[in-house]
Amino acid sequence: MNARPNRFETNADGWDGPGGPQDLYFTRDDSWPYPRMVRADNIYLFDENGSKYIDASSGPIASNLGHNNRRIIETMKAQLDKYPFNTIRLARSDENIALAKRLAEFAGAGFERPFFVSGGSEANEAAIQFARQWAYAHGEVDRKRLFSLMPSYHGGTICTQVLSGDAAVAPIFEGMATMPERIEAPLSYRPPDGLTHEQNEDRICRQFEDRIVEVGPETCLALFMEPVGGVATGANVLSGRFLKRMREICTKYGLLMVLDEVMSGAGRSGKFLTTQHHSDDCKPDLVVLAKGIGSGYIPLGIMLAPAQMVDELSGLTGFNYGHTSNANPLACAVGLATLEELEERKLIENAASTGPYLMERMRALSDECPIIGNVRGLGLLQATEIVANKQTKETFSAEAKAPDTLRRMGLDHGLSLYARRTNNGQYGDWVMTSPPLITTRDQVDEMVARFGQLFSAFTDAMVRDGVKIS
Ligand SMILES: Cc1ncc(COP(=O)(O)O)c(C=O)c1O
Repeated sequence: MNARPNRFETNADGWDGPGGPQDLYFTRDDSWPYPRMVRADNIYLFDENGSKYIDASSGPIASNLGHNNRRIIETMKAQLDKYPFNTIRLARSDENIALAKRLAEFAGAGFERPFFVSGGSEANEAAIQFARQWAYAHGEVDRKRLFSLMPSYHGGTICTQVLSGDAAVAPIFEGMATMPERIEAPLSYRPPDGLTHEQNEDRICRQFEDRIVEVGPETCLALFMEPVGGVATGANVLSGRFLKRMREICTKYGLLMVLDEVMSGAGRSGKFLTTQHHSDDCKPDLVVLAKGIGSGYIPLGIMLAPAQMVDELSGLTGFNYGHTSNANPLACAVGLATLEELEERKLIENAASTGPYLMERMRALSDECPIIGNVRGLGLLQATEIVANKQTKETFSAEAKAPDTLRRMGLDHGLSLYARRTNNGQYGDWVMTSPPLITTRDQVDEMVARFGQLFSAFTDAMVRDGVKIS
């Protein structure tokens, strides 16, 4: 067990003097104060006291290559010496051109023209603006309405916060950006009473189509969905049949379909894009990537669009959107080196084979553990949902602060975890069990053993606090 300072003995008011760590901005939840990490290697993080943690959620599902990757580090050093910056409105760079070509090869037909930004929120923002400018340039000026799933997450800018399906966040920004239309997400663990998962999917598709007809198809712009959810749904997987039906509806009424693969993309699902698990009739118009493509070494986000659309738009109005650091050569060099690592070390294949092994081991743990309600995901994008009652799927009360407590207790058991309550826990609580794509089976065993200890200590702590677990 890692020895950590008792949080109640730490100066909970913050920091003596000016400055301070970024978490002073955050609420003092049960996981505060955070450990101070000083070193990282492979799938492990080390803090100032020498305690070792498994990076069991790859940070916020970002460190796909793990830590201290020599190819990435040497690439960055060489790129700094060569040519670290230009702005795309004034010059081209070899790194931009090379990464765009390799990405188009990885992504396949229909995604030939990557557009590079600095993160997932910017990439979703680019997709919103691309969709709107495409409609506008074609004279469809009333097409403004966006659709997203409830729950979902698409980013931290005001537009993408509002696009995200989180009832706790929406009231804060209401009126500052136009609210999208919300369509229920088909949550596989929690279909409404009396419906199978498939019946629920069909119901939601009908709901989507009915709403388009009701508001007028000529006002509808695009649908955003995470094919495998992140922390908003706990790795809920959208099925091929659901994606196909939503695709048909989008095509019928002229909406663009955008898949947000910020977490699931770049190989984490066991294919480079999640859409490659499905037939062509599920294909989106645009795909958004971030996180794993920069692998935590550099901020990098990408919108993938078809050459036909980009080339047509550039012949009309052009796509007018940009930031100073779009297609930054240093970021592009890291993206390219990430693709080389994925290919040479067969890391996408590793996600495809180690993912099911992790799931099998976590599901075996769930047989012994009263609080594991569900283990789900695809490849190495997985989550474990915790419940107070397995039979009824009852969630923990807000007072139990289950995700924060798990995150703090995880540190005691050598696990760095991404877990936080979303939507006030209305759809459940989970912890992301999504280690880097370099994770071996032995490391999965080590991680699952620690989870076993953590869940049992967590259950004891809840019972001590008077929480009823059954
Ligand atoms: C699905 C999804 N979309 C978008 C984002 C926003 O990405 P970023 O934090 O890089 O802006 C995230 C971040 O967690 C995400 O999980």
